[in-house]
Amino acid sequence: MKKVFIETLGCAMNVRDTEHIIAELNKKNSYEPIDTLEDADLIIINTCSVREKPVAKLFSELGIFNKKKKDGAKIGVCGCTASHLGKDIIKRAPYVDFVVGARNVSKISQAVNTPKMVAIDINNDDTTFEFEEYRNSLYRCSINISLGCDKSCTYCIVPATRGQEISIPQEIIINEIKKAVQKGAKEAFLLGQNVNNYGTNFSDGREKTNFTNLLKEVSKIDGIERIRFTSPHPLHMDDEFIEEFAQNPKICKAIHVPLQSGSTKVLKNMKRGYTKEWFLNRCEKIRSLVPNVRISTDIIVGFPGESDEDFADTLDVIKKVKFEQIFNFKYSPRPHTAAIDMKDQISSEVSTKRLNDVIELHKIHQDETMNSFLDQTVDVFFEDLKPNGEIFGYTDNYASVFVKGSEELLGKVLPVKITKAYRTSLFGEILETK
Ligand code: 5AD
Ligand code: SF4
Repeated sequence: MKKVFIETLGCAMNVRDTEHIIAELNKKNSYEPIDTLEDADLIIINTCSVREKPVAKLFSELGIFNKKKKDGAKIGVCGCTASHLGKDIIKRAPYVDFVVGARNVSKISQAVNTPKMVAIDINNDDTTFEFEEYRNSLYRCSINISLGCDKSCTYCIVPATRGQEISIPQEIIINEIKKAVQKGAKEAFLLGQNVNNYGTNFSDGREKTNFTNLLKEVSKIDGIERIRFTSPHPLHMDDEFIEEFAQNPKICKAIHVPLQSGSTKVLKNMKRGYTKEWFLNRCEKIRSLVPNVRISTDIIVGFPGESDEDFADTLDVIKKVKFEQIFNFKYSPRPHTAAIDMKDQISSEVSTKRLNDVIELHKIHQDETMNSFLDQTVDVFFEDLKPNGEIFGYTDNYASVFVKGSEELLGKVLPVKITKAYRTSLFGEILETK
């Protein structure tokens, strides 16, 4: 068997794309994934382009990979940066053998066998393509429910790299999850750029449906114990969706509600479609219906025109919602976006200061919420064995838990008493083995 080394950057969609890439290569060319670049016959970087830094790093990394690779090994660039730079990648790094964009994963085998192939069509439709099976985790089945994004957030390059949004037909999603259950999966992780806009646009023109209906159908699958999803959009969080999230016992009580900014003015300039008040109202509703929910968010600081008052609104939302987890970013100007040409770009110093303010405020909330787990008993789904003899898993509401234990705990959901709380993880003891 030939060997493929894949480095995956970016989001959960990219992680799933890597699984599809491995599955396809395995079917057509018999490749198996390995961790050592030097032994690989094929090296792939599955790139992210959402911020500038990783894109800049790509070419230095390609240079290193080219020096380290064994004679005759091929190098390919996939993912979002492949979509947006296309053939320029081969111009700048002529030793790159192929470029396959984020919307063209089904073409990977053809690309490997076609010298200098560049496949970056963002209108390509993979929604009914039958990918082979390959999963990183035995217990979690990640599955795309839609491709692309129909929004036009003014900071975001994704619509230019992943194209217009199309939903994957429900029966394909359900069948894939059922297949994964037969192989031991207990958790379904539904993926899309905007999951709660699911069902508005199918390529076969079928009748519309919605995300709440899809959640109901997935939860009917025997053997699926936990359902997670990312990312929902605050704009589409209607009451029906929040109520289903609250009352369906299979849906994990962790939700990502990407804020971006707490200022209604900045949100308008970002074209997010909601106000500070709507965002707070949605989070209040979620917290009131689901007392143990953990809410995570994304925040961008230093968006063009963000004044001190605007940033104070962001801090105000953080104080009110007390997010359990924040992914915070300094605004990064991107090609193919409207914000790149906006006036009042914010200096790096101001953005850094604001980023630190977010981090410091969030630490207080992290400590509060993590300490509240102490002496509590929580159900943990164990999924990973660490080299130090610890077993790792998540609570239903997505807190990370470590216990001392061994392999036979993997794939089980067990009650754990929390004995230590750190800022980002918990440590505990298993109470009984079911
Ligand atoms: N600059 C900084 N952060 C960005 N994100 C998207 N585009 C940019 C950008 N140009 C962030 C958003 C998004 C997350 C995936 O990345 O917060 O939710
Ligand atoms: Fe994912 Fe966006 Fe990065 Fe593409 S640009 S890999 S969609 S985070």
